[in-house]
Order: sequence, then C-alpha cells, then structure tokens
Amino acid sequence: MSNEQQIRIYNPSEEAVKRARVSGMDAYRALCKEAEDDYEGYWARHARELLEWKTPFTQVLDESNAPFFKWFGDGKLNVSYNCLDRNVNNGLGDKVALIFEADNGDVTKVTYKDLLSRVSKFANALRGMGVKKGDRVVIYMPMSIEGVVAMQACARIGATHSIVFGGFSAHALRDRIEDAGAVALITSDGQFRGGKALPLKPIADEALGLGGCDCIKNVVVVKRTGGDVKMVEGRDTWFHEAVANQSETCEPEWVESEHPLFVLYTSGSTGKPKGVQHSSGGYLLQAMMSMRYTFDIQPDDVYWCTADIGWVTGHTFIAYGPLACGATEIVFEGVPTFPDAGRFWKMIQDHKVSIFYTAPTAIRSLIKAADNNPSVHPGKYDLSSLRLLGSVGEPINPAAWEWYYEHIGGSRCPIVDTFWQTETGAHMITPMPGATPMVPGSCTLPFPGIQVTVVDETGTEVPWGQGGILVVKRPWPAMIRTVWGDPDRFKKTYYPDDFKGKLYLAGDGAIRDAETGYFTITGRIDDVLNVSGHRMGTMEIESALVAHEQVAEAAVVGRPDDVTGEAIVAFVVLKGPRPTGDEAKAVVKELQTWVGQEIGPIAKPKDIRFGENLPKTRSGKIMRRLLRQLAKGEEITQDTSTLENPAILDQLKG
Ligand code: WTA
Repeated sequence: MSNEQQIRIYNPSEEAVKRARVSGMDAYRALCKEAEDDYEGYWARHARELLEWKTPFTQVLDESNAPFFKWFGDGKLNVSYNCLDRNVNNGLGDKVALIFEADNGDVTKVTYKDLLSRVSKFANALRGMGVKKGDRVVIYMPMSIEGVVAMQACARIGATHSIVFGGFSAHALRDRIEDAGAVALITSDGQFRGGKALPLKPIADEALGLGGCDCIKNVVVVKRTGGDVKMVEGRDTWFHEAVANQSETCEPEWVESEHPLFVLYTSGSTGKPKGVQHSSGGYLLQAMMSMRYTFDIQPDDVYWCTADIGWVTGHTFIAYGPLACGATEIVFEGVPTFPDAGRFWKMIQDHKVSIFYTAPTAIRSLIKAADNNPSVHPGKYDLSSLRLLGSVGEPINPAAWEWYYEHIGGSRCPIVDTFWQTETGAHMITPMPGATPMVPGSCTLPFPGIQVTVVDETGTEVPWGQGGILVVKRPWPAMIRTVWGDPDRFKKTYYPDDFKGKLYLAGDGAIRDAETGYFTITGRIDDVLNVSGHRMGTMEIESALVAHEQVAEAAVVGRPDDVTGEAIVAFVVLKGPRPTGDEAKAVVKELQTWVGQEIGPIAKPKDIRFGENLPKTRSGKIMRRLLRQLAKGEEITQDTSTLENPAILDQLKG
C-alpha cells in the first residue's frame, strides 16, 4: 500500500490456485462481471444451484418497499432440510458432521445421519411444547453439540432463534428475552471453560426472575456439568428427558424465503442492543457461497471456526454454512489457553484440520504466549494438514498476519482476511484463496457480487487513496432485513437520509489503495468499540455505569490494545467526593464487577478514572476526542479554550 513503508505482496501458491473454485484473478473477475451485467441473474443462478427449494422462486429481488428488500420472495424452503436431510439423501449420512472436542479433551463425533436424528427428536420435543413457526426461542448455551442441535431444530420447525452468548449476564439475557418476546429458553446447567465448571441455569433463573419474561413458557436444560440446579415444575424440562421418546423423523416446516431464521442482538451506538433480523433463503445462500468461494470448502476438508455460536460468526460459519455444504467441522467447548496456549495447535494436529478460521485477538495472544513459553510454540506441532487460514472480527495488523502466515500456515497457506458484520450475514470483502494476491492488513477486494465503495459525508464516492465511509451500493441476499420490532431504527441506522436512503452504511471507515483498489478497514466511525473482536457500544457501558448508585456520570472510550485490539476506558464522576488511593481502587473493582453483572465480563472497563467532572464544552457536550487522547496517555495538543473546566484534565490523566 502506498502509505506504508514496505509492502509485501503474497501470491497464492500454484497449488492453491489449481484446486480452488475461483481459480486465478480472471475467474474472480468473471464472477464479478457476471453480477455486474445481470445482478439478479447472478444471485438467482447460485440460489438455484446451491439450495434445494420446496417451492422454487420466480421473483429474485423485490425493491418495491426499499430499504426493506426481499429476496426470492415466493420461494419456499427449510434451512435444516438443506443442512441435514439433503446431505443424508446425497449419500453423506455416515460422514462426520461435527467433531466435538470438550474442554477436557474428550472427543465426540456426530455423523450427518446422527445429527439429523438428534435435530428431529428435539424439533419434535419443541413442537410438543407448543413451539411453532414464527415463535422466538432464546438459546443461552455453551459451545456444544446440543447448541447446534437447538439452532437446527428451531430452523426445522420455523421457530426464530435468538442466541445470547453464554458470557452475558442475567440482565443482558433478560433484556433480550423481553425484546424478542421469546416463548422458550434453551440453556444448560453450566459450562466447562478452562477446567472450571461455570453456572448457566442459575443465571437464566435470575434473568427470568427479573421481570419482563412472562412470555417464556418453557425452559429446556441440557445436563452438562452436573451442577446443582432448581427445576421449576411445569416450566423446566431436562433436554435428555424431552427428547427421550421422540421420533427420529420430523417433517420440516416449509417456510417462505424471507421467514426470519434468527434474530441476533448486537451493539450499536445507542444504549440498547438491536436485534438484527435475518432471512432464511438469502442468508443460507450466502453462508454457502462464503464457504465455497472464500474457504473453497471441499469434501475432504476438516474445517474449524473457533467462534462461539453466540456471535454471528458461529451462526454462519458453524451452525449453518459448513453443514449446508456437507463439511466436517470442529466444535470446540474450551478456551485457547487451556490446558496450555498450545491447545489450538494441538487440536489442528490431532484432527488434521485443513481450514482454520479465527480472530486476530486470539492470534495476538497466542503469539505472546509462544514468545514467553517455547513449549507452546506452534513449531512444536505438526500443522501440515492446514491449507487455508482465515481471520475475522477486527482488522489484523500486518505483524500478526505475517506470524500467522509463517508459523501457522508454514508460508504455504493463503490467509483470507474476511470483512463482514452481524448485519451482512456473510463475507463482504475478502481475498479469494486461489486468486487474490494478499497484502497483510488489507481485506483486499469485494466478494463476487458485492458492490461496496467508499464515500464522503454526502454519499459521493471518493477517489482511491482517500479515506471515507464504507457503504454497500446494492442490496444483497444475506443482508439484515430489519431491526426486530423497530423498523424505523433499521432505516435510520443503515439507510440514513444523508445518503438519500440509497446506500447501506456499514459503520466502518475504509480506504482503497491508490493503485490496487484494495480495501483497508480503518475502524468504526460510530460509538462502537471492538474488544477482542466483540462489539460493544460505549453508550451501553455508560448506561450500565450510571445505573450504579454511586455514579453520577460516565463516559466510555476505546484505547488501542496490543492483544484485544481495543480496551475499554471509563471516565467516571461519582455522586460523592472523588476517590483517591485505596478507596479509588476499591471503587474501580466494585464498578468492574457491576458492569460484569449488568452486561457481562467482556464489557468490564480495563481502566476506570475518576474526576470531579468530565471535560465539556460550554454547551455541555462531553469532549470525547479529548477523552480518547487522555485514555491513550497522549499530551493534549488540541485547543481546550472552549472547555468549561480545563482543570479536571489533570485528574483524568490516569
Ligand atoms: C469489524 C463480525 C476489519 C468491523 C463478523 C465490523 C473487521 C465489525 C473485520 C463487525 C475485518 C469484522 N477487518 N474489521 N476482517 N471483520 N470487522 O458484527 O468493525 O461482530 O463493522 O461481526 O467488526 O462485527 P460483528
């Protein structure tokens, strides 16, 4: 890239080019051209080739009620049928679908036939409880076979699932249950992580007791840790009892292509997380296309995405995409550092993983671990089964990219740096592994068919080499359909009037390289932080802080962090006097625990500083740019003359 000192270009190996579906840049360009020449025809061709429809569609894209777009509107299908029955019918019944590795290393393999039977039984159990098409089911579970089964079972009966990440607190769970109006909750007694058994059902009970959850009629509990749980008569059922006498077959509910497969809550720039609503047909189509083009999934691959099903990556790249492609995939319960920081590398060796997809934050923490402890260095493991690496969730810094390329990929595996979002459903900007020359730190070029560009505040395209706002020019099949229960918010957030309602606003800044046109994502342009690849709204954390009885005011900003990408820094004004010394330390602890309870441990501020006030303009606006500088420990260079109270800057220096 023109603005960096030394640009290294990594060409995919001849072998990678030879085996890939998109083989060489001409093949990539041909797909892009196909989509440019006949946009609807391009997606329709793939939708016909890749999905099995109960009722074939005749309409492709319906823009009549923009920005509420519809894809394949008159088609009917079932997502679970496409992931399971279809593969069994095509002779893959005995192929391993899931290789589950537990926290303690125990391995369980589930074939497509087994998975179909497990899903059908649980789908029947849910139907028996009265759960039906269109009902919402909240899933609050650890990484497990049952987690995938629960998602697929909902899809099978047309229930819309909403997964709440197992690390979220009772409050966060309650808010999501209430917003979704869920009729059932699926959880487990607890989860194993890093050799410890952690409770889940007790947190779920707490959530249900907080009020607002009367919509929940049934709670299904998977027995995992054997921890003590209270079962509420008439409401709670053990998973194993619920499925015990169920039939192994279950007629799928054939749903319209637009039927909401799931709602997944994600952070935005206001306090309340928003429920991103996804479709069935368009979503599954692009989940498969990402698997086939970006990961070039082949029948003999062993594929491993290390995400949690609580995030969108775990939806598209664990629960749906790989299964729809008939792949063999790993589902991992544990953490990368237990029993030691060589866990990922050992698992790649043991299971002969060929495609590995993880987040930059994991790579950075494992680089650190390997530097400190040679016995967990990837060089100690046989990683020769790998042929393709992926990165997702945040920008990957070139140093981490190069380490990943050399030490994990043996300088032979292409790295696909995949840019996408909860809202986009599938990959948007990414290299094609057998075509695109790679540049560390750049997610390179659009996925074939996706039309992205960079614009200024007025929506006018800026020239290559100039930074701006990332937008998508045309609707795509896997896109968000609406914000659950709040269509206005959907419109305002993603199709703002500033762009005449015509451009999808991703919320990220981007720049295209002046010569190659390659995209580099420059970070969020809204008040969203990215901590270890997890999206956190600053307002959400501020709301949690001010809900504490001692807190009068709070402002939260991000600060660059070597391992987590960004770290959360909170500036807090207490109702009482500004604490110092040991007292301040105690309040910091108290507030961190509090935020952990209000949202979840991932939202705990790493650094909390107290002031008698916050830096504000005379009109009372908090000067966040100043706070960001303070958080980084930078000297304040900007003009502070408009500041109401310049003296407090010293208090907030940290
Ligand atoms: C960021 C995760 C740079 C970006 C799939 C986006 C990335 C947000 C990349 C979405 C990447 C994700 N390079 N930034 N390859 N991938 N992001 O909804 O800021 O959890 O808007 O979806 O993560 O996060 P989300």
